[in-house]
This record gives sequence, structure tokens and C-alpha cells, in this order.
Amino acid sequence: MIKHIVLAGIPQLREIAEPVSADMFQSVALNTIIADLFETMKAYKGVGIAATQIGVSLRVLAYGFDFNHPRYPEQDPIPLCLMINPEIITKSKEIVYLFEGCLSLPEVRGLVPRHEWIEVKYQNEHGQVMQKRHSGFEARIIQHEIDHLDGKLYPERMDNMRTLGITAALRESGIIR
Ligand code: NI
Repeated sequence: MIKHIVLAGIPQLREIAEPVSADMFQSVALNTIIADLFETMKAYKGVGIAATQIGVSLRVLAYGFDFNHPRYPEQDPIPLCLMINPEIITKSKEIVYLFEGCLSLPEVRGLVPRHEWIEVKYQNEHGQVMQKRHSGFEARIIQHEIDHLDGKLYPERMDNMRTLGITAALRESGIIR
């Protein structure tokens, strides 16, 4: 089901999500949340989404998108991925900057520093533990979505609030594509 996006300003978005417990894996309840996440992300044209953004306080996130994504046309596609109970194990010293947006903060973008790569440990939908290194835009999305699970939004990661702008205006100015 397509869910409403919990917008910034609603206290629920600031909650720290609970881990998914072992007995929840493969349950109808968890499978429904997973399906809702992917459906809602697609409907709102997100590149990533956290369960907290659809009003579910559980540590689940999804991301991925096809070619020519309307919100991030300059990015190469990323296959759909689901992470349950994700944890950043190691991260690069190297920090990279990119304009980020968020479905919970519509129509604005800001320049956000993130680790260039991260190694993440998580569980897939079957409960299997996975550990992988991700870099670039994918690593950025994962960091952004894990922040959501901790009730954090990207402006709190920005070191120059003067870069915050309206998406359409930033495009018009040639600052983003
Ligand atoms: Ni977001």
C-alpha cells in the first residue's frame, strides 16, 4: 500500500526506531511493511526511504532506482535493496559533498558531507546477516536513511546552511541538475 510520508515537523519522525526482532522475520507484518516501503518510495519517486517515514518505528530501510530518475537524473541507477537492522561497521576518512533532498522535507536541497564509503552490516528480508562495502551515491543514501532510523534529518549534517535552497531555484541557477 502507498503510505503517507511523515513530514518534518511531525514528532514521530524524530523517534529512534526499534530493531526488528528475530521472531518478526518472514512474518506477514514485516513483509507488509517491506512491500509498503518499496511501493511508497516508488510512488513518491524517492531514491531511498526509511520505515520511520511511513510511520513505522522499526529499523528497516529501502533504496534503489532506475535510469533517468526524475529527482536525481545525474546519478547512475542502483538496484533495489532492503536493509534490516543496518549498522555502519567502518567508514572512510574521505568526506564527499553532494546536494541531498528528502521526501520528508519536500522541495528543498542542501549540500551534505558524507563518508565516501561505508561498510554496512545488516539483515536481509530472510534474516540473513550480510556485510558489504558501499561507496558513492549508494553509500550516501544508506547514511541518509540510517540517520532517519535515528530520528535525524540531513540539515543537521550540513556544515554550511547557506547552501540550503529550493530545488527548482537551485536548478534554475544551475547549481544542481
Ligand atoms: Ni530522507
